[in-house]
Amino acid sequence: MGGRRLRRVVFDEARLAARVSQIGREISEHYPAGEKLLVLGLLKGSFIFLADLVRRIHLPLQVDFLVASSYGDRVTSSGTVDFLYDPDVQVTDRHVIVVEDIVDSGTTLKELLPRLERRRPKSLEVCVLLHKRLIQLDPEPRWVGFEAPGEFLVGYGLDHAEDFRHLPFIGSL
Ligand code: IMP
Ligand code: MG
Repeated sequence: MGGRRLRRVVFDEARLAARVSQIGREISEHYPAGEKLLVLGLLKGSFIFLADLVRRIHLPLQVDFLVASSYGDRVTSSGTVDFLYDPDVQVTDRHVIVVEDIVDSGTTLKELLPRLERRRPKSLEVCVLLHKRLIQLDPEPRWVGFEAPGEFLVGYGLDHAEDFRHLPFIGSL
């Protein structure tokens, strides 16, 4: 373990569960009945959020994942993003929801969304659990779980140097 300690619980389990259910309901109501969704999770940070979220969406859907480069051991964004992109994910003519854990510098989504747009999805929306509001995205994610405080957050999928992902709540270091 890296020796970092948790400072405080920022979003507890009950709060996360309630908000995830609400977003699931909103997503379920957003799309016309009968449409099939592709829920595209950005690994690794979104894996717990996505697992909880898809169980709250009452529409036919499929799940796939993309891998974006991570922060490594640092707590600040590097400003460049590499995608280990799965070319088999079929995006064309599908309603795509990109699921991300947190918007920090926004670099990940700014790089990813144009790439996905070029593949002509039927629609493309973003659902993020946390948004630090350090920058404005164009467009902003349609679904945002919580406004994030200006601290480094871990748990519920988010890591620091790969630690803390398994915590059932979100805390700060
Ligand atoms: P961005 O590209 O700077 O918006 O950062 C996106 C990625 O950085 C997220 O998907 C996270 O993996 C990571 N990240 C940003 N802020 C935090 C944080 O507070 N805790 C853990 N990971 C973070
Ligand atoms: Mg991430």
